[in-house]
Amino acid sequence: MTPIHETIINKTTTNTPIWLMRQAGRYLPEFRKIRKSNLDFINLCLNENLSSEITLQPLKRFQLDAAIIFSDILMLPYGLNQEVSFKKDFGPQLGLIDLEKISKVDEIDFLEKLYPIYKSMKKVSKNNLIKEKDLIGFVGAPWTLLVYMINRHSPKKELIKDFFKDEFLINRILIILEKFLKLHIEHQIKNGATVIQIFDSWAGLLNEKDLPNYVYIPTLNLVDYVKSLNIPVICFPRGIKNYKSYCEIVKPDAINIDYNVNPTSICKEINIPVQGGLDPKVLLTDTNNLKKQTLRYLETFKDHPYIFNLGHGVLPETNPDMVDYLVKMVKDY
Ligand code: CP3
Repeated sequence: MTPIHETIINKTTTNTPIWLMRQAGRYLPEFRKIRKSNLDFINLCLNENLSSEITLQPLKRFQLDAAIIFSDILMLPYGLNQEVSFKKDFGPQLGLIDLEKISKVDEIDFLEKLYPIYKSMKKVSKNNLIKEKDLIGFVGAPWTLLVYMINRHSPKKELIKDFFKDEFLINRILIILEKFLKLHIEHQIKNGATVIQIFDSWAGLLNEKDLPNYVYIPTLNLVDYVKSLNIPVICFPRGIKNYKSYCEIVKPDAINIDYNVNPTSICKEINIPVQGGLDPKVLLTDTNNLKKQTLRYLETFKDHPYIFNLGHGVLPETNPDMVDYLVKMVKDY
């Protein structure tokens, strides 16, 4: 069994495994080199040779316990024929939503468009570097994808004013998303994903009363689906106020916490395996502080099944030497 499966399935508390969200990407010079000559981010994700190479880059440097496929949650709206582009210093920009066009997409069109992602995963899963480690497949949660599809760019701290105006549109999109997210998960697993992570990066934007409709129910459907395929599923409802209720309702196999969560109280409140928490900004400070903050998580979760990770993705300005220090520290603990 892989170290991450040991933690999630057997609930072991020794040899804390580690991987990092956004471990493949902008802080690595070898990634930046490839990125410089591949200006279109979507095309890069769809280049199976390069995306598999990028996926493996962090494993060549650090003793990580998993690779996460180099792709993006917005490849899903792309697969549904909504325009998606990534603009420098702005982030993602999506085209106007055309419900008729999206409703016409069938499973074959969708899989054909995303086929290179699956081929890339197959390639990674056959590489020696991933032996006895996990390959993490992922999707955006329905709510977070809905946010991008309607808002058309990152919402920063709030949604556009009329976000909930067209209830018909929202409900139709949620139904379509459920179908294609399941398909995307199924094909990632068929091509080598051994864990699935569901990113709900904008869960924190909702009021308590809207959580059941937009977060709990749609995510629970996906979680149950992944479980039916016998693969562990980790959820990351970033910024949500009540992780305990979320875990009780959605019942993921493990929960990733964000950096605003107090690890001591979560450890007491939640009885499923926990992942993450460390503020990625700590990697921008010095090794003394990094050591102190890392020990805080390791010691808090000493007797609780725990996968080391961050409370959000690695920041682009991170020095890879700090990542090296962190990984070694966790491995030597
Ligand atoms: O290493 C990994 O974690 C694997 C790859 C990965 C990417 N995006 C690559 C990427 C993963 C798991 C994601 C998830 C993702 N994408 C999320 C959920 C996690 C989170 O950050 O909350 C979200 C919300 C997105 C959407 C997205 N993609 C945004 C908002 C941006 C722009 C801002 C940013 O972080 O760069 C992207 C672009 C993106 N996705 C890049 C990478 C490496 C940067 C592209 C570039 O080189 O310009």
